[in-house]
Amino acid sequence: MTDLQGTTEALVSVRNLTRTFDVKGGQFGQLRSQVHALQDVSFDVFPGETLSIVGESGSGRSTLGMSLLQLTHPTSGSVWYRGKDIIKNTAAENRAMRRHLQIVFQDPFSTLNPRATVGSAIALPLLHHGLATRETVRDRVHAILSDVGLGPLFENRYPYELSGGQAQWAAIGRPIACEPEFIVSDEAISALDVSVQAQIINLLVDLQEKRGLTYLFIAHDLSVVRHISDRGAVMKAGRIVEIDVPQRLFTNPQDAYTRALIAATPVFEDRRSR
Ligand SMILES: Nc1ncnc2c1ncn2[C@@H]1O[C@H](COP(=O)(O)OP(=O)(O)O)[C@@H](O)[C@H]1O
Ligand SMILES: [Mg+2]
Repeated sequence: MTDLQGTTEALVSVRNLTRTFDVKGGQFGQLRSQVHALQDVSFDVFPGETLSIVGESGSGRSTLGMSLLQLTHPTSGSVWYRGKDIIKNTAAENRAMRRHLQIVFQDPFSTLNPRATVGSAIALPLLHHGLATRETVRDRVHAILSDVGLGPLFENRYPYELSGGQAQWAAIGRPIACEPEFIVSDEAISALDVSVQAQIINLLVDLQEKRGLTYLFIAHDLSVVRHISDRGAVMKAGRIVEIDVPQRLFTNPQDAYTRALIAATPVFEDRRSR
């Protein structure tokens, strides 16, 4: 699908996406109200770019990220990946597509199986997707551990033996093992110490450069947009109120809500010079 401006080919396109949750209550589970988690959301993500989605808790960012990966089904609208509306995918088509579209969550300990070593957590997708054989899997696991900044000895560690940062590194190793094209990072750094946040961001930037990855980077404040994004989208109550390159978002915000977010944003130095 061509992008909204009709020029470059987008990798992922979202059109008029809506997701409504029924809220039930009472003794008989009557419909009490509806939550409009996504309301007519449309945007494109271009190959190799980082698009940040910023907004307060409850603004619909996770619902959006999960919809892009078909982990939740939207109420209406379409999601295009490589020219195909993936909402119409069959279960088999979804399974084949999943390897290419991956997600990193906020809490690595909920992603990692507490009874599986880091090595086996990474080996599993490699074997499942036929990206390694029994003979080659150990070398591939070591290569991926090294890519995410962990030494080969982490292969035998269990999640409870890891710090929060190390666990998030290991958790990033799993989607990376799938050799994806597109990664949704859903507040992957929000629960970590500031120093570890910077390391994870640097890791994601390095992986992107090495592997030509495309990111949808969900965060709650705009500092990260300035730091790593090619573009930032501001979400409020299920709608994108503004989407633009960081320079314009910061110097000439069009929406009152963006201005309020900027006023509340801590200032970091730019790591990337563009
Ligand atoms: N499974 C669900 N059932 C009912 N409401 C939900 C469900 N998932 C999300 N919501 C509601 O949808 C809105 C958006 O949620 P979410 O996408 O998780 O926001 P964010 O990730 O920005 O915090 C919130 O009001 C939330 O309570
Ligand atoms: Mg969320």
